[in-house]
Amino acid sequence: MSKQVVLSGIRPTGNLHLGNYFGAVRNFVAMQDNYRCYFFIADIHSLTTHPTPENLHGSVRQVLAEYLACGIDPDKAAIYIQSDLTETLELYTYLNMNAYLGELERTTSFKDKARKNPDNVNAGLLTYPVLMAADIIIHRANYVPVGKDQEQNLEMAVKFAARFNRMYGAELFPKPGPFTYDGKDPIKVPGLDGSGKMGKSEGNAINLIDTPEDIRKKVMRAVTDSGPTTPNQQKPEPIQNLFTLMNIVSKSDVIAFFDDKYNNCRIRYGDMKKQLAEDIIAFTAPIRERIVSILADEAFMARVAREGAEKARESASATMKEVRKLIGIRRFF
Ligand code: ADP
Ligand code: TRP
Repeated sequence: MSKQVVLSGIRPTGNLHLGNYFGAVRNFVAMQDNYRCYFFIADIHSLTTHPTPENLHGSVRQVLAEYLACGIDPDKAAIYIQSDLTETLELYTYLNMNAYLGELERTTSFKDKARKNPDNVNAGLLTYPVLMAADIIIHRANYVPVGKDQEQNLEMAVKFAARFNRMYGAELFPKPGPFTYDGKDPIKVPGLDGSGKMGKSEGNAINLIDTPEDIRKKVMRAVTDSGPTTPNQQKPEPIQNLFTLMNIVSKSDVIAFFDDKYNNCRIRYGDMKKQLAEDIIAFTAPIRERIVSILADEAFMARVAREGAEKARESASATMKEVRKLIGIRRFF
């Protein structure tokens, strides 16, 4: 029996950070042994914000090196660049004919982005979920490992896939579902600025490529408070966020030590931050080293991108053959 299919991607809009790693890429790595996996770099999606050509290419290279440095194995999974698989754009066009203005305008991320950048409400932004659906269903993916913020986009993909099947009386596309490797809810990695998630646009991210000095500086600047005054009191958000990060990167005895100090009102945030910074560095340092050496190996990156595109094309062209047949697009020659 053929393996079930997994697909996911990240837009190349900067360096990968701890949120991307623990929310998404860690799941990719965990899944590659047991599923037929496609992991791609969503460079076309990133065009909605008009990067310069140099920035675009530089970010694609960076994310490719970072995927590999995190442990995505090109011999197990297909790693490709979205723009190398032009079949996706053909499917996107067909899906657009059955995607309606009302449903696209109601999408939360569209509304958010339109509100934040009222001068750049372009058609690509409006149809972002259609392109994302094309990415997913072109491989007839069963699972899509993404963080919580992508839930609505995934629901739209489910809708567009079912609509196509219904419209053409076919069972071509399976229903793509969310996935985390441990079966738990997707985690949300907090930022260090007191509230909310870690994110590129939030400007609060610790990147995998950050140097130890960068990381120490960022962690030492994290928002805290004047300390607990009663034993076992509930932790306010900025403090809980520090503990959440510690839960992700530190050993359990270290976490228990600071938790105990907090509960006895004897915590020194400076000590906790120093420890947290060192534990983050211990985690990121080997990844950082690998990113640097992969970036220096053009030939390796070129081979990965080429082989990934070939594997992706094999799967996508089989789907597109069926799609064209169903729609009635038949060649005369
Ligand atoms: P950013 O928020 O930095 O722009 P993206 O929106 O490009 O990141 O997200 C890429 C992937 O990483 C998505 O699957 C998203 O759900 C996940 N992700 C991003 N930030 C976090 C976070 N703080 N915690 C968990 N997952 C995250
Ligand atoms: N929208 C996703 C993000 O911002 C990136 C993405 C594009 C994606 N196409 C996808 C994720 C298909 C999963 C599947 O992170």
